[in-house]
Amino acid sequence: RAGAVSMQRERLLKVLVIGDLGVGKTSIIKRYVHQVYSQHYRATIGVDFALKVLNWDHKTVVRLQLWDIAGQERYGNMTRVYYREAVGALVVFDMTRLSTFQAILKWKGDLDSKVALSNGRSVPAVLLANKCDQWQLGLCPKLPKLESFSREYGFVGWYETSAKDNTNIDAAITCLVKSIMSVE
Ligand code: GTP
Ligand code: MG
Repeated sequence: RAGAVSMQRERLLKVLVIGDLGVGKTSIIKRYVHQVYSQHYRATIGVDFALKVLNWDHKTVVRLQLWDIAGQERYGNMTRVYYREAVGALVVFDMTRLSTFQAILKWKGDLDSKVALSNGRSVPAVLLANKCDQWQLGLCPKLPKLESFSREYGFVGWYETSAKDNTNIDAAITCLVKSIMSVE
C-alpha cells in the first residue's frame, strides 16, 4: 500500500571488510549475500562490492553496501580512497594463521587513521575470527582471549565465524549494523 511504503526511511550503509590475504573476506560476503561457499581461492584485486537489503524494522530499510577490500591492499596506498565515508567495518583474521591475527591491529590502525564518524569517534568495528570449523586440524595455540583483546582495542564485538559452515556470519554482521544504527 502506497501509504505504508512512503512511511519507510532508507539508510545506505557503507561497510568495509578488511583483513589479510586469504582470511575469508570474500567467502564471508558470498555466504552472507548469496548463501554460497566455494573452496576455490581467487584473490580479490583492488576492491569488490556486494549489496544486501535488510528490512531492519517496520520503518527502516537498510541498504548494506559491503566493500570487499583485497588483503594485498594493506601494502598499497589506496585504502584511504576505499575507506572514505565508511560507517563500519568487519576486521577478519584466519584462526589457523597467527600472522593474520597479528595483522589485525595494523588493519584497525589503518582504519582509524583514515576514517572517522562525523562526531569524531572511530567507526564501529567487529572482529571476526574466521575458519573456526578448522578446530580438528588445529587452530593457533597462541591466540589470546578474544573477549579482553577486542575490548582493549575498541571493537564493538567479536565472533568466531565460519563461512564454510555458515557459523555466526549473520550474528556478526547484525551486531555491526546494530552498532551503526545506534550511533546517530
Ligand atoms: P583476498 O581476496 O586475497 O584478500 O582473500 P579473502 O580474504 O577474500 O579470502 P577468500 O574468501 O578468497 O578465502 C580464501 C580461502 O579460504 C578460500 O580457499 C576459501 O575457500 C577459504 N575459506 C574462507 N572461509 C573459510 C572458512 O570459514 N573455513 C574454511 N575452512 N576455509 C575458508
Ligand atoms: Mg577476497
